[in-house]
Amino acid sequence: MALFATLFMHLCDYWFVSVPLLTALGVFAWFMNQEEQGTSSTETAAPADDIQSRILDAKKSASSISRMKETVVFDRDWDANAEDNAHDEDIVPSGIPEDVQHIHFEHKRLTLESMYTRSKEFYELMNNRRSVRFFSKDPVPKEIIQNIVRTAGTAPSGAHTEPWRFIAVKDPEYKKRIRELVEQEEEINYTKRMGVQWTADVKGIGTSYVKEYLTDAPWILLVFKQVYTLLPDGQKRNNYYHEISTAISGGLLIAAIQTAGLVTLTSTPMNCGPALRTMFQRPKHEKLMLLLPVGYPSHDCTVPDFKRKELDEILTMIQ
Ligand SMILES: Cc1cc2nc3c(=O)[nH]c(=O)nc-3n(C[C@H](O)[C@H](O)[C@H](O)COP(=O)(O)O)c2cc1C
Repeated sequence: MALFATLFMHLCDYWFVSVPLLTALGVFAWFMNQEEQGTSSTETAAPADDIQSRILDAKKSASSISRMKETVVFDRDWDANAEDNAHDEDIVPSGIPEDVQHIHFEHKRLTLESMYTRSKEFYELMNNRRSVRFFSKDPVPKEIIQNIVRTAGTAPSGAHTEPWRFIAVKDPEYKKRIRELVEQEEEINYTKRMGVQWTADVKGIGTSYVKEYLTDAPWILLVFKQVYTLLPDGQKRNNYYHEISTAISGGLLIAAIQTAGLVTLTSTPMNCGPALRTMFQRPKHEKLMLLLPVGYPSHDCTVPDFKRKELDEILTMIQ
């Protein structure tokens, strides 16, 4: 306080210096304030307007793009490459030629009796399917595996993109490498990565991070989904609904394994996708969805005694 009083007295003594000095300081402060607000009178009005209008235009187009995305892209899986393609002006050639020939669809009707029998028998066959975690080392001919994968390849797919790739591994060295990788990640899942809830949820199934079946089973099938199709010129063609298409294909694969008299375990090895993709030199737009050991059950194989939901718990009929 005393310091300010002394300073004021000195300023009054030297009014002829302090008054112009304070005026100059005031003008300078006003000028800086105007600068900050972007309305400096020393700048020419036109460029400032120009910048403002350009910012406004950019904002308008950004909001119209996001509005377009909201209305047009209604599902991330539908347009999986939306972000990648945001700046692509070019239309990628369709995978289905416009002039594709439409041919007669052959269909032979079965008798009602036969339909009833076949549908019931197929249900019974599928109802016997169980996820098996103990495998025999007995070999399975590769032709059977090829037929199983052929069946999986008959699945419907969004815009007939067939966004799947299967890898069938019999080579013991590769199976060993797969097992090492999966066990290493699963150990982290069981001990660190996953919470108490997950550990409790899978405890009854009797699984652990030790996966002997990965080296015991004669085959391991890897199912990859292809997020897009890479065209020879580097363009990316969107694979509509690649996830659900490949999941349906996986269902057919499992049904074909069961129909062939073999067993499998549907598994989704967490955090192993990129390493397995690299192990088999598959491109980045292929993502691992399923890993399935395939073969015969071991003699001492056990499965948890699960009951399936009754029909009325899974079906609502409106008739
Ligand atoms: C998407 C999916 C992922 C699964 N992942 C695993 C897995 O990582 N490890 C495992 O032991 N079982 C896995 N299972 C198998 C389930 O535990 C099994 O299907 C379920 O317990 C029902 O038994 P069931 O297949 O014998 O009817 C998976 C199943 C599905 C459909």
